[in-house]
Amino acid sequence: MIRLENVSKSYQAGVPALNDVNLEIAPGEFVFIVGASGSGKSTLIKLLLAELRPTKGKIIINGKDLKTVKHKMIPKFRRNIGVVFQDFRLLADRNVYENVAFAMKVVEASNKEIKRKVPMMLSMVGLAAKYRSLPKQLSGGEQQRVAIARALVNEPKILLADEPTGNLDNKNAWEIMRLLDEINQRGTTVVVVTHNMEIVKAMNKRVITIKKGVVISDEEGEEA
Ligand SMILES: Nc1ncnc2c1ncn2[C@@H]1O[C@H](COP(=O)(O)OP(=O)(O)O)[C@@H](O)[C@H]1O
Ligand SMILES: [Mg+2]
Repeated sequence: MIRLENVSKSYQAGVPALNDVNLEIAPGEFVFIVGASGSGKSTLIKLLLAELRPTKGKIIINGKDLKTVKHKMIPKFRRNIGVVFQDFRLLADRNVYENVAFAMKVVEASNKEIKRKVPMMLSMVGLAAKYRSLPKQLSGGEQQRVAIARALVNEPKILLADEPTGNLDNKNAWEIMRLLDEINQRGTTVVVVTHNMEIVKAMNKRVITIKKGVVISDEEGEEA
């Protein structure tokens, strides 16, 4: 569960990047966050990752008030949240398998677990055959699939995606969105920031619209 209560974030004096935001995302939901550039979407994602602290208000994730998460406990807290970005952020000098395995090494998973789970995740994202490729040998869509496999390999309850299709053509954008939908149907809560209104409309999910730091609409999808 994700819950924001009267959350504001100001980087400096003046207009806040987020202004008195209230929202709740239930376990297992799929939610789009839309809004013009500069409206505060990435700020919201960073607050959920505890990369930033709110200036005002309360954020609760999986029952935990982020205010009570001490600085040195933040890496542990983040294991409950997978995240993907527009620019993939893969390790350029490691192959596909190693990129995903790396996320498990960080949390000190056993070699046995790594050998079991990495191929499973790569199959899930449709990249089992390319496990030895370097990121630069892959298309943008394939790189984002690796990033998604890496984000999910430690089985977080929540997946956050900040403009995951921003660097992709329409066909690849659709494939990534379908993959995110499939991941959601397997039980992960998925929050997707996007500009692709064509896909947002077609997918019929809950859509939260932010304008200048304020939530101006929050609409359920028709399938809900
Ligand atoms: N590190 C920062 N320092 C100062 N201002 C920032 C910083 N990051 C974002 N902002 C400002 O906060 C507002 C919201 O930015 P952001 O959350 O990145 O919007 P979006 O992701 O919707 O494009 C913008 O006005 C942006 O310039
Ligand atoms: Mg942004």
